[in-house]
Amino acid sequence: MEIENKMLKILMNSRDYVSGAKLAQILGVSRSTVNRIVKKLTAKGFVIEMHPKLGYRLTNLDDLRYLYKYVDYIDTEIKYSVHYIETCDSTQDVLSMLAKEGASEGTIVIAEELKRGRGRMGRQWIASKGGLWLSLLLKPKTMTYLHLLSLAIAIAVAQAIRELFNIEAKVKWPNDVLINEKKVSGILIEGSIEADTIHYIVVGIGINVNNTLTNELTEIATTLKNVVGSDVPRIPLALNLFKNIDMVYAMIKNNKIKEIVKTWKNYSSTINRYVKAITLTEEIEGLAQDIDYDGALIIKTNSGKTIKIHAGDIIHLKQ
Ligand code: BTN
Repeated sequence: MEIENKMLKILMNSRDYVSGAKLAQILGVSRSTVNRIVKKLTAKGFVIEMHPKLGYRLTNLDDLRYLYKYVDYIDTEIKYSVHYIETCDSTQDVLSMLAKEGASEGTIVIAEELKRGRGRMGRQWIASKGGLWLSLLLKPKTMTYLHLLSLAIAIAVAQAIRELFNIEAKVKWPNDVLINEKKVSGILIEGSIEADTIHYIVVGIGINVNNTLTNELTEIATTLKNVVGSDVPRIPLALNLFKNIDMVYAMIKNNKIKEIVKTWKNYSSTINRYVKAITLTEEIEGLAQDIDYDGALIIKTNSGKTIKIHAGDIIHLKQ
């Protein structure tokens, strides 16, 4: 398993063929062992192309039907298990149903397209083919710092994009991910909580990858394909995201609150900007000064008052 895992990593990180000789050298095994591992992986369903001169190459890295095979090979504390569906109304609802039936932490529902994708604040989320639309089940034991989860997930998305594409993805309060000021990802956290007991949390993540945006959306949103300039294979992106989620979730469980807030601020495009905050009850304009250890946004209004926003939406003002 260990050596298969290593070979998968090498093949996944290479966009092109890797020769048998090079694989043998990196893995420290003979060419015939390379052949044997390739056969094992192929038997497990990984699609590996073989070229007599160039070597080996993984294919179908954009085909989300194969994602469930790959998650067994990433080293994470969360035990992920992936359910792929071609199309559904919202992955949030499918996963909530599974959660009520007792699905375990780490269960993921991923769909190629959503008919009624849900966004924050009751908004619709347009999710056509080519994007990464998934819901993840988490069962944190305590309510402490639960409010930081949405910020932490945004960090994980931004980090995955930064690591894979070397792009400066930023976070906008509370949990949008932006590239060049345009939204590339949104996060929706829902859950079943009663008094002090968390039954489950459903983390919905939408990332615009190779999907085509509607004309209206291109004003405010972008896709990874637009930024990178070519199609982006979604399996490596999803796996990197899962690893980063595992990391931030461990930080939350270990009360590493300061680190989360610090990283969020490092990635932030909101702090030190003039913003308009829209909450259920009011609209406030002012300078976004900081975020609190409970994830609230601290705004200094023009009249000099300091106000904390716990929930709502903000618009970055061009000032
Ligand atoms: C937002 O920015 O408003 C949050 C968008 C969340 C979209 C994702 S896509 C997968 C999951 N299923 C849904 O219906 N919504 C979330």
